[in-house]
Amino acid sequence: MGIECAPLLAALHEVTFCGGEVWDATSFAALLSGHGTEVTLALMGKDPAGFILSRTVLDETEILTLAVHPDFRRRGIGKSLVRSVQGKGKVFLEVAVCNTPALALYVQCGFVKAGLRRGYYRDGSDAQVLVSNDA
Ligand SMILES: CC(C)(COP(=O)(O)OP(=O)(O)OC[C@H]1O[C@@H](n2cnc3c(N)ncnc32)[C@H](O)[C@@H]1OP(=O)(O)O)[C@@H](O)C(=O)NCCC(=O)NCCS
Repeated sequence: MGIECAPLLAALHEVTFCGGEVWDATSFAALLSGHGTEVTLALMGKDPAGFILSRTVLDETEILTLAVHPDFRRRGIGKSLVRSVQGKGKVFLEVAVCNTPALALYVQCGFVKAGLRRGYYRDGSDAQVLVSNDA
């Protein structure tokens, strides 16, 4: 998917991260214009159910964001999206230390702790850095 999906990603991001750090369509368009950035959209029937946005530089991939619509959670969509960016080298990401569902998902996908970024988020909370390396 390309830059044309920026409004859809923004809408999904808003419903997924409501009350949190929501990215708008302009931000998604800018990210999608960048070199090495890719998005994979998950559909349930015709409904957009979630997506993963990643950026690859050489053999390292960063997961920039992962979102599954609340109506479609606990059906393996998040895991499938994460798996779709694995297997080609190192994959890393930051996740809020209090985000228990996402941490559990990443551990299930083989990620391990690689560091802590203090005050990483706008609200001052810390981020856990996770990495997987299963090329
Ligand atoms: C985190 C998120 C992507 C998970 O998506 P999902 O499609 O529901 O995840 P899956 O169904 O693939 O779950 C895979 C595993 O993750 C873990 N998990 C997922 N949701 C969980 C929850 N609410 N509580 C505890 N563990 C959870 C479980 O181990 C689960 O395996 P199981 O269902 O066999 O027990 C989704 O909850 C979401 O979009 N959250 C808000 C946005 C977010 O936090 N994104 C990640 C930021 S880095």
